[in-house]
Amino acid sequence: MMNEFIKAGYTVVGTENNENKLLSFLKENYPNVIRDTEINLEELKTVLGLPIDEKVNGYGLNFVGRNFARAKYAQKTKKELKLNTTLSKDIDTTENLVLKGDNLDSLKILKNHYSGKIKCIYIDPPYNTDKDEFVYPDKFDKEEAEVLGLANLSESDFARMDFSFKTKKSHNGWLAFMYPRLLLARDLLSKDGVIFISIDDNEQANLKLLCDDVFGEENFVANIIWQRAYAPVNMNKYFSVSHDYIVCISKNINDYKLIKLPRTEKQNKDYKNIDNDPRGPWKSGNPSVGPAVEKNIYEIILPSGRKVFPPKGRSWLYTKDKYEELIKDNRIYFGKDGNSIWAPKLFLSEVSDGVTPMTLWDYQQVGHSQDATKELKSLFDDNDLFDYPKPLTLIKRLVSLVASGNDIVLDFFAGSGTTGHAVMQLNAEDGGNRKFILCQIDEPIKQDKPAYKFCIDNNLPPVISSITIERLKRAGEKITKDIEAENSKTDLFEEHKKQLPDIGYKVFDSVEAPKLKVDDNGQIQFPENDTDALSRIYNMIFTIGLDEPTQVPEEVIKDSIYKIGNHYYITNSEKITSDDYTSALKNGKVFIDGWTASLNGTLQNYKEDVKIVF
Ligand SMILES: C[S@@+](CC[C@H](N)C(=O)[O-])C[C@H]1O[C@@H](n2cnc3c(N)ncnc32)[C@H](O)[C@@H]1O
Repeated sequence: MMNEFIKAGYTVVGTENNENKLLSFLKENYPNVIRDTEINLEELKTVLGLPIDEKVNGYGLNFVGRNFARAKYAQKTKKELKLNTTLSKDIDTTENLVLKGDNLDSLKILKNHYSGKIKCIYIDPPYNTDKDEFVYPDKFDKEEAEVLGLANLSESDFARMDFSFKTKKSHNGWLAFMYPRLLLARDLLSKDGVIFISIDDNEQANLKLLCDDVFGEENFVANIIWQRAYAPVNMNKYFSVSHDYIVCISKNINDYKLIKLPRTEKQNKDYKNIDNDPRGPWKSGNPSVGPAVEKNIYEIILPSGRKVFPPKGRSWLYTKDKYEELIKDNRIYFGKDGNSIWAPKLFLSEVSDGVTPMTLWDYQQVGHSQDATKELKSLFDDNDLFDYPKPLTLIKRLVSLVASGNDIVLDFFAGSGTTGHAVMQLNAEDGGNRKFILCQIDEPIKQDKPAYKFCIDNNLPPVISSITIERLKRAGEKITKDIEAENSKTDLFEEHKKQLPDIGYKVFDSVEAPKLKVDDNGQIQFPENDTDALSRIYNMIFTIGLDEPTQVPEEVIKDSIYKIGNHYYITNSEKITSDDYTSALKNGKVFIDGWTASLNGTLQNYKEDVKIVF
């Protein structure tokens, strides 16, 4: 169908011959193809969809199914999005998104508009433990391998992949699952963006190597250790593991700017102003440092007349000139008696604007697993609806290190929706306008789980995404209630009242994109399409990528023409007249939904000016 339009002289979005800057394109989009100014032919073949071998090659992380997984990244998605008006909240105003469905598809759909636009990604993927019973879930069979260009796959190679992909707790399967998703995550991150990935010992080492491959080793920032348990499990045979890891990687280490943690009252407590210094509270620092440096070893005469030298093996903090300069500026303290050792005055007003985070995060700072479970239960009338959510404080801290202002935060393993809750809560606290995008598959909930009963009782489909969305709804209501209570305090000035953050979200379902049908006579038929017009329009917006998909397109002609700015999106083009075309074209750019267009209609007259979208 697409080819029919191209043959007939139309421009089809996504097939235009872009400028031929092949090298920069490859570097930008397929960084694996060019490494150290060398071309990696295997990678290039995968990208181009040429036959490839599943062979071990060179240094780096290798696993069964690597090339297959790489090809999955490049494969076009067969899904599209359908607006779910029932589950959405504040649909006309919100700038948050929840995409139901497999994140491999959702990330590909997001790429058109959000490439290079996401500031912070947090993910908490399956850890591949005995408990989570992870099995490679993506489509894999001989036909798919062929479609993806693995034509030379021998029987034994196929058998090896098949075994790896169908076994529980297979490292190969887990890596092949994560690889294309991390490549997509990298594409979405902004130049100064950061991804945080929760993991435990089952896959931490593999994940680190995979991330080195995907993001470049130099972009690794830190491996945070989060204390998730506060008491030992004494029946454990060996150690009672009490921590998880959160791997932190920047898109580009040179562009990454960490937002420091706010100083706590405890940290400020040591600063006093015992001499009424006009510069405010200060605390005394250590006057000496080790190891000894010759030029900083000299005699200092204290006001009492006592002469002092630095302790053995150490030297003074400053050169003699600097020390004298600081004395003149009243930045050196000699104790009340003028006979104590001297000390530099460190002013609170001059310490940096925040605290550099350490890599060890204990539960007292950010909560532990049971805190997280309690938090979630408190939103759901004490019902325990999700296993192992992350604590809100933990995710709030991660997000706050990277995202501020209008930044977008993405979580494509959303689970109970903690990341969305954290974003709304942070905005409520600091007046920010961060937006979230959550992806969550419609994973069925087992019938024996309380969450199953909860869904049935509340008329929701018994799938995890129902819990994600319900959590967002309840969290938003709680945030609103708390702010309203705060604002209603009578002694509050109007300007000190808090703004309500965006607590809405547009929900999209992932559905099969239309497929071509060929009738018995070999004629191409229009696919039957039961998607509503507005969803078709949103699909075009997502596919073209020019406009922000959270905007609400303005209706020009019901069920047919919608616009954002001067972009006209047209579905069911059969229904519109020459006048409609002329007026849209006069005012802006026109995009036509190829799935609802015909080559024989009025459209023919405008083929030079419109773009077709599939
Ligand atoms: C460990 S949980 C995340 C928990 C979350 N951090 C929280 O605090 O609630 C991982 C989630 O990813 C979801 N998931 C697994 N595979 C997925 C996929 N291919 N696409 C989208 N979601 C997926 C699972 O259903 C599960 O809810």
